[in-house]
Amino acid sequence: MTQPLAQNQAATSAPDTAPATDGAIASAAGGSPHKTRYISISNQKGGVGKTTTTVNLATALAAIGKKVLVVDLDPQGNASTGFGIDRADRVNGTYELLFGECTVEQAAAATKVPHLFVVPSSIHLSGAEIELVDTERRESRLKEALERAQGKYDYVMFDCPPSLNLLTLNALVASDGVLVPLQCEFYALEGLSHLVKTIERVKNSFNDKLDLMGVVLTMYDKRNNLSNQVSDNVREFFGDKVFQTVIPRNVRVSEAPSFGLPAIVYDLACPGSQAYIHLAKELLKRERREQEAQQKQIAGPAA
Ligand SMILES: Nc1ncnc2c1ncn2[C@@H]1O[C@H](COP(=O)(O)OP(=O)(O)OP(=O)(O)O)[C@@H](O)[C@H]1O
Ligand SMILES: [Mg+2]
Repeated sequence: MTQPLAQNQAATSAPDTAPATDGAIASAAGGSPHKTRYISISNQKGGVGKTTTTVNLATALAAIGKKVLVVDLDPQGNASTGFGIDRADRVNGTYELLFGECTVEQAAAATKVPHLFVVPSSIHLSGAEIELVDTERRESRLKEALERAQGKYDYVMFDCPPSLNLLTLNALVASDGVLVPLQCEFYALEGLSHLVKTIERVKNSFNDKLDLMGVVLTMYDKRNNLSNQVSDNVREFFGDKVFQTVIPRNVRVSEAPSFGLPAIVYDLACPGSQAYIHLAKELLKRERREQEAQQKQIAGPAA
């Protein structure tokens, strides 16, 4: 087992005033103040690779030198388990953060990967949905709780549950973009129009900066005609929103969580890990391109 990214000593929690990475402090475009990017990994369909994508994309971004916080919004707690956070250590987690019982610094536990922290899903999160219903500003609790983290991370990534419930709504309200993992199987596109409409509704009512950031094809099997057909259909439907990088079905990726490790730490060389590293690079490239386009727009035609 290769562990190139594991740090020797896993601290128990993030330092209060943890400095952002060098690249995080000022943007490459001339020292403007650093902005954290918030990304929801969401698809209401179960078992499509949301958690695997969250854990490994976050790890890949951290390996590139970005400072990353993963927020586990799923009461199943798979992302927390995937990072090897013991249930006994999940005292402060997403529930406590949502209900103001702790700060994000108190909730952010260090992982074995340098620069990568996780707000774990504690046992109470399964009751949060019902409790939120009667809470004031129930859809923006997470966004408010994360205000203290602004600028301290390059990326905050939300691993959403397989449902468009209040926990997912909190993630969407707090996000700049939504990344949708799609499993290469027959029913891949089913329910997607509902997700796209939900993103539109959240954009119109709560968060005008929210965008469908991209679609990533997961568990792709090149020997299977169906995988190719699904990939063609999805690209026809979503155009260049679909990432060029495709995540292959790879047994090493599915083994890794049982060791409490991201696949990239468990086996860096396996095709699944390599694909997630490519995905991270593609994401960064896209963001750079969008940033440049925005800057050109601001500068106007004379520039
Ligand atoms: N690229 C892959 N190759 C092989 N197995 C994979 C791959 N990606 C995910 N899996 C496996 O598929 C299953 C579902 O993946 P995952 O838990 O990431 O999906 P999910 O969308 O988060 O599920 P849920 O909706 O329950 O939260 C897991 O057992 C995982 O290990
Ligand atoms: Mg999951």
